[in-house]
Amino acid sequence: SVQVKHVQELSINGVEPPPRYIRKEKDNIDAPINTTTTLSSSIPIIDLHLLSSSSSQEKEKELEKLKSALTSWGIFQAIGHGVPSTLLDELQRTAKEFFDLPMEEKHKYSINFDGKQDWLQGYGNDLIVSEDQVIDWSDRLYLLVKPLDQRNYKLWPQYPTGFREILNEYSMKTHQAAEIILKNMAKLLVLEENYFVDLAADNAPTFARFNYYPPCSRPDLVYGIKPHADGGAITIVLPDKEVEGLQVLKDGQWIKVPIIPDALVVNVADQIEIMSNGEFKSPMHRVITNSEKQRISVAMFYVPEAEKYIAPAPELISEIKPMLFKKMKAEEYADMYFQHSIRGKRAIDFAR
Ligand code: SIN
Ligand code: FE2
Repeated sequence: SVQVKHVQELSINGVEPPPRYIRKEKDNIDAPINTTTTLSSSIPIIDLHLLSSSSSQEKEKELEKLKSALTSWGIFQAIGHGVPSTLLDELQRTAKEFFDLPMEEKHKYSINFDGKQDWLQGYGNDLIVSEDQVIDWSDRLYLLVKPLDQRNYKLWPQYPTGFREILNEYSMKTHQAAEIILKNMAKLLVLEENYFVDLAADNAPTFARFNYYPPCSRPDLVYGIKPHADGGAITIVLPDKEVEGLQVLKDGQWIKVPIIPDALVVNVADQIEIMSNGEFKSPMHRVITNSEKQRISVAMFYVPEAEKYIAPAPELISEIKPMLFKKMKAEEYADMYFQHSIRGKRAIDFAR
């Protein structure tokens, strides 16, 4: 496998995207883009603060909304999440400043594909495993933020100043939001309160991925990120404040995720779909690029501990609801996910 040129270098001067970046019709999930804005076609908004409200009526109402978000969408916009607005701004600014650095400086953090892969951490883009693989129109900085003792600070940018402190602070604050979400997920399925929270325990990995989508002269020909579902437990995304691009597949249509100031976008990932025996959906999503503006987002991936066995909760299996997925170790799932998703296939279908 080899690493390709950073997309940022290709996007300069607005050249047409090279053939390896062009979407293939046969790989396209051929679905129309929904352009209406009716209530039923918009991503649910959940106020996490209300989930711990002292008014049980308010709490129950928000829990009901969360249930419908998780079962029919698998994605929602979280408000009242407790991550300060100033911290969100700082993280966005820091991310922009990193991608604005000269290539030479960023290269210091480039993914090293020789030798030990170190979780593919660092600055780079798609790992190329086959000739006909379509490459995404984006660059990333991918870092393990938890467990703390496994952080590789050599890959945490020294510039812009404050990057490390801001990412550290942000990861602690989003972890609290993740815990609230995971606790309420268990509640909704009438499982023991910590059933899912354990997935984000101190030993469970959390990754941060800074996504940089340069403008593309032909956004119709490329993907910022090709259609995929996430492979971990849950994902929390800080989207760009000004530029849209994320879309989610719902009932055969791509639905745009609109910008809501200070909201975080939360989605279920495959291993929660498995553990919930299919009750909660891990949605297909993609990112579309833009011909004029760059877009930056930061995704936090909460991933079950490698040694943990992942299977549908026994409480959710019955005669009318058979076990939909096989039991496997989280690390086995992660390997399988990597093999399939890099080829544009949906990994969870191979766990049935
Ligand atoms: C993703 O992590 O799949 C995309 C998030 C985004 O850029 O909005
Ligand atoms: Fe994703």
